Amino acid sequence: MKKDPIRVAVTGAAGNIGYALLFRIASGQMFGPDQPVALNLIEIEPAMAALAGVAMELDDCAFPLLEEIVQTSDLNVGFKDCDWALLVGSVPRKAGMERADLLGINGKIFVGQGKAINDHAKRSCRVLVVGNPCNTNCLIAMRSAPDIPDKQFFAMTRLDENRAKTQLALKAGVKVKDVTELCVWGNHSPSMFPDFYNAKINRQSAAKVIADESWLKETFVPTVGTRGAAIIKARGASSAASAANAVVDTVSDLIKPTRGGYHSVCVISSGEYGVPEGIITSMPIRVDAVGNWRVVEGIKLNDYAREKIAASNAELVEERSVAFGQLGLSI
Ligand code: NAD
Ligand code: LMR
Repeated sequence: MKKDPIRVAVTGAAGNIGYALLFRIASGQMFGPDQPVALNLIEIEPAMAALAGVAMELDDCAFPLLEEIVQTSDLNVGFKDCDWALLVGSVPRKAGMERADLLGINGKIFVGQGKAINDHAKRSCRVLVVGNPCNTNCLIAMRSAPDIPDKQFFAMTRLDENRAKTQLALKAGVKVKDVTELCVWGNHSPSMFPDFYNAKINRQSAAKVIADESWLKETFVPTVGTRGAAIIKARGASSAASAANAVVDTVSDLIKPTRGGYHSVCVISSGEYGVPEGIITSMPIRVDAVGNWRVVEGIKLNDYAREKIAASNAELVEERSVAFGQLGLSI
């Protein structure tokens, strides 16, 4: 039986991540090889000509699953009836900036987008925020869309998880697939904590397998936390293909039951593990058989891990207070 298409709105569709992402959605890598998709491509007016070129290239791929392309700079059109909203569009940081420096520049974009999602998207719409600072932007979008349940808002730390897995695999001399249960906690910022104590290498604690705590604390953690800056320095532009890949990983893992382990996704906190309530923060997530996600319970965190997670979440509380102050939102 033919499936109805999943309608995916993508903001910043003509940008670098957009260019690496759209073709993977349209080819079936995000929602599966028998799931038709419709793409609502959203850009700002000056980028509409470039967007038309991207749409031409999508046409030229003759993807069998791609049923419709909408190109628009009107948010009300762009989010109409969408099942997923991938909020990528925003200004990336340049060398020497921290992601939090983008708060004032990008924060207001997410008020308008949240409102338009509230007014035009399906009530079941799920929203993944990629544009930085993605945790706080996600919170702003969520607060601007009061009719869409909070549990349907996510921000992306899967790129950090993927980066962390590779660093551990390289150090241990194993394959990336042998590294599992690696949760990146907290903010998508240098303060994030990739939990090497609970991560597994071939089902044993990564900390025990690597057996070099000073490397883990002093090299691994900062390498993961500053990888985005290292890419900007090397490439002269922020990560795009790996970020798009992480979007595909995040969404495809949120729409199917999790088999073993868990994944890092930023979600609304209800106080799990002592995390302050009401921030969008990265935690270990599992999806059950009927498609509901939950934060995995019972992970043992030692004092060092708790301190790192608390510091990263304190940064998010501070970002929220600065952004909400600028935007006139109440906490
Ligand atoms: P880019 O500059 O190449 O593209 C951004 C696009 O967004 C541009 O085409 C621009 O016209 C568009 N845009 C700007 N404001 C918009 C708006 N209000 N509505 C719709 N579109 C808008 O940037 P990029 O490399 O694609 O990165 C996009 C964002 O993703 C940046 O904020 C970057 O920091 C962030 N990012 C996040 C992660 C993560 O892991 N969370 C990883 C990589 C990049
Ligand atoms: C990344 O982690 O690569 C992105 O968030 C881009 C950046 O500014 O670091």
